[in-house]
Amino acid sequence: MEPAETELRCEFTAETIADRVTALGACIRAHYGERRPTLLGILKGSALFSADLARAVGEPAELSFVHARSYGDRTVSSGRVQLAGLEAELFAGRPVVICDTILDTGRTLAAVRDAVSKAGASEVTACVLLDKASRREVAVSADWVGFDVQDQFFVGYGLDHGGRYRTLGYVGVVKHHV
Ligand code: IMP
Ligand code: MG
Repeated sequence: MEPAETELRCEFTAETIADRVTALGACIRAHYGERRPTLLGILKGSALFSADLARAVGEPAELSFVHARSYGDRTVSSGRVQLAGLEAELFAGRPVVICDTILDTGRTLAAVRDAVSKAGASEVTACVLLDKASRREVAVSADWVGFDVQDQFFVGYGLDHGGRYRTLGYVGVVKHHV
């Protein structure tokens, strides 16, 4: 039987997320000043976060996306990350801020960071809404973190569980998750 939405426990409300994203955007804007960073959202999970963060950072930032997929089962990364649609020609000599909703083992961020560096970016930083630091398997960290979180499986605000819950405005935890 499919889990019902009533089995979700809210962890971060839409209002809490909005306040934090506004603050993260201000930090990023202050860091870059007159420079023009490219915000690089990792699809699909950071579509909502990147859109909100982009508005919080504001002009003259640019916005780009890359699609990342890691093979494996639904909740455990297999460690192999496949990237598609990276606009590599945009990044030469430019500062890039990689945006992801959640940093878990770090494999996705490491793969995107390496690809962006290879494309000639002048500076590569990362902003994540949620950081599961206890789960890290590769040496990466984010320069701006919304919330440090425990090792739980989160859904909503772009994060899915088997394709579900991405459209929720809040971040929740699936109860009785197996
Ligand atoms: P990493 O490569 O292990 O750091 O995982 C990053 C990616 O795994 C994220 O971009 C998500 O797509 C997915 N992921 C990791 N943890 C969660 C979670 O708690 N809920 C939903 N997706 C997650
Ligand atoms: Mg997913």
